[in-house]
Formats: sequence, structure tokens, C-alpha cells
Amino acid sequence: MSVFPKLSINIDHVATIRQARRTVEPEPVAAAVLAELGGADGITAHLREDRRHIQDRDIRILREIVRTQLNLEMAATEEMVKIALEVKPDYVTLVPEKREEVTTEGGLDIVGSVERLTRVVDQLQSAEIPVSLFIDAEFDQIEASAKTQALLIELHTGQYAEAKTKGDRSQELEKLRQGTELALSLGLRVNAGHGLTYQNVYPVACIAGMEEFNIGHTIVSRGVLVGMERAVREMKLAMRGQL
Ligand code: PXP
Repeated sequence: MSVFPKLSINIDHVATIRQARRTVEPEPVAAAVLAELGGADGITAHLREDRRHIQDRDIRILREIVRTQLNLEMAATEEMVKIALEVKPDYVTLVPEKREEVTTEGGLDIVGSVERLTRVVDQLQSAEIPVSLFIDAEFDQIEASAKTQALLIELHTGQYAEAKTKGDRSQELEKLRQGTELALSLGLRVNAGHGLTYQNVYPVACIAGMEEFNIGHTIVSRGVLVGMERAVREMKLAMRGQL
């Protein structure tokens, strides 16, 4: 029997829509509840330094209401470590963060910062918060990740998702497969995410040993469209005082 990865839903872009108006809807916490009703195995939220989408109160409320598991994505900064130690998510994913980027652009450079990241991993894991490191599927980054004692890695699937030709895509898929194999052999658990869509997810889901996917943009995008007809019908009812 094949074992497919679990699915954690990244709800950042529900908050992006809310923040576009600095208003109260759509409520990302409600999205998390509905995602769980739909079968999500976890909820992922990225508290960025600039608070462009998810806010501190979202994380606090998510911690209270998420029934599956809460994955807090964050930069390895003092401010974020303090928040994580207070909130105690089920696990933390450390990601690189640049103010000017539209979304996370690449994996963490673990090779160049093993000592610093080992300290951050230790701070979090000593508080029983497992740490996942978001990295490219490069052998040296995977080996360096194991040195930090982090329990998990998340392989960056962006290059696979953005590959322009079939050949490039197969090559990227093979890198993910080999990276997973190496990571497992080093005792790391393996997640993956970034840029996965309804069209490209299956081959990655077939890689043996993948534990969990973090998927956001494509699901929120589809959610907006599959909900549009109903939302319009309901507004017509509201205009007639019939909702
Ligand atoms: N994993 C990480 C580490 C991310 O930073 C993101 C984007 O916030 C995702 C997964 C989800 O990517 P996408 O929104 O493209 O599905």
C-alpha cells in the first residue's frame, strides 16, 4: 500500500486578502477551521517580520483552535524565537526572509550558518518544539541540516514547480527524490513545499518517505474561484433582505 504525505494548509493568503483592506475578513482562523473540516492534517502560518499577512493575534488564536497541528513558519530571529517559545506551536519551520521578496525565494543557507542555526534549533527543541529547516534539495545543505540536530527538513519544491521543460522538471524531481533518500538516511524527517499545484503535486507525492506537504497559494486561489458563484448568489439574497 502506498503512503501519501500529509497535507498542511498554509493560510497566509487568506490573511493577505484581509490585510489588503486592513479589515476583519476573510478571517484566517475560520479558514483554518474549514481546512480541518475538509481533512487538512495541519495548519501552517508564516509570521513575517513585516506582518504583511499573518498577525500576532492570528497565531495566538490558531494555537488555541487548531485541532490537528500548527506549523509556525518564521525567520530565525530573536523576536520570532521569543514568540515561538510563548506560543508553543506543534513545530516550527525556519525560513529565510527578505523584506523585498514577494514570497520565500530559496532555501536557508545552513552550510554557511551551522553554528547559529544549531543554537536556534537547540533553543526551540529544548522547549519541545521540533524544528524543520526549509532548504533546497542540495546534498551539502541536507548534511549541514543534520548537524544542527533539527528533527525535520522541508525540501523547497520551487525549482521543480517552475521548471520550464519536461527534462528540467524530471531532473528537479530526481533531486527531490535523492535528497529525501539522503535526509532519511541521516535520520531527518522530510517535508516539502512551495509552488505545488493541483497539476504538479502527484509526482512529488509519490516520492517514498515524504512526510508532509505545506501548500497554500494554489488552494487559496482555488477556494476563491470555487466559492465565487455561491458568494454572488448570497449577495443577491442579501440585497433582497433574504439572507
Ligand atoms: N513552505 C514554505 C517554507 C513557504 O515559505 C511557503 C510559502 O509561504 C510554502 C511552503 C507554501 O508555498 P505555496 O503558497 O506556494 O503553496
